[in-house]
Amino acid sequence: MGTAMLQILTHGLSLGGSLPGDMLTFLHHHGCPQTAAHCLRVAAQARQLAARFGGAQAQAELAGWLHDISAVIPNAERAAFARSLGLEVLPEEDAYPMLLHQRLSAEMAALIFGVSDPPVLSAIACHTTLRPAASLLDKILFVADKIAWDGTGEAPGLEMLQAALDVSLDEAALCYLERLVQRGAALPVLHPWAAQAHADLLARR
Ligand SMILES: [Fe+2]
Ligand SMILES: [Fe+2]
Repeated sequence: MGTAMLQILTHGLSLGGSLPGDMLTFLHHHGCPQTAAHCLRVAAQARQLAARFGGAQAQAELAGWLHDISAVIPNAERAAFARSLGLEVLPEEDAYPMLLHQRLSAEMAALIFGVSDPPVLSAIACHTTLRPAASLLDKILFVADKIAWDGTGEAPGLEMLQAALDVSLDEAALCYLERLVQRGAALPVLHPWAAQAHADLLARR
């Protein structure tokens, strides 16, 4: 299914090999114009954060452009698609397949868009939950995605997030994870990477 699905996803599309154009073509073709606009905003935000915190701006922008490309895969198909690509699916991801979209986007960035830069793929793969021992780029994309969020209106907790950013990038990541962990019981599931990233950042504080 893995290869067949990839062929279906790119069938009839001419991807010229340049970004963000190919990302826009791909997401518009699959009826996801809002995700396309969100990816542009996250890329711009990630570039800004990279400039501010000494990260690689081009890598941050690239990760932002592609971080949500698996939006084209319906929730009900995510676990099967992930397994067909050889990924091990965690119980939390099986229970709540939205949580798989980060890792699927990284796979698709490599397989469809030809990205081979491990730090970029890592940042895409943990942009929703972060992970323990996260890299600078992981944290930049994670925070950029929360600032330029894809819901309506202003991102929840944006003011707190901006204030934490004035302290450090780690504080901003922690600020978001803190709220997530506190809301734990009210969430459908808490991804183990988020719980571990939270504990890891607290321990390094
Ligand atoms: Fe996402
Ligand atoms: Fe996103």
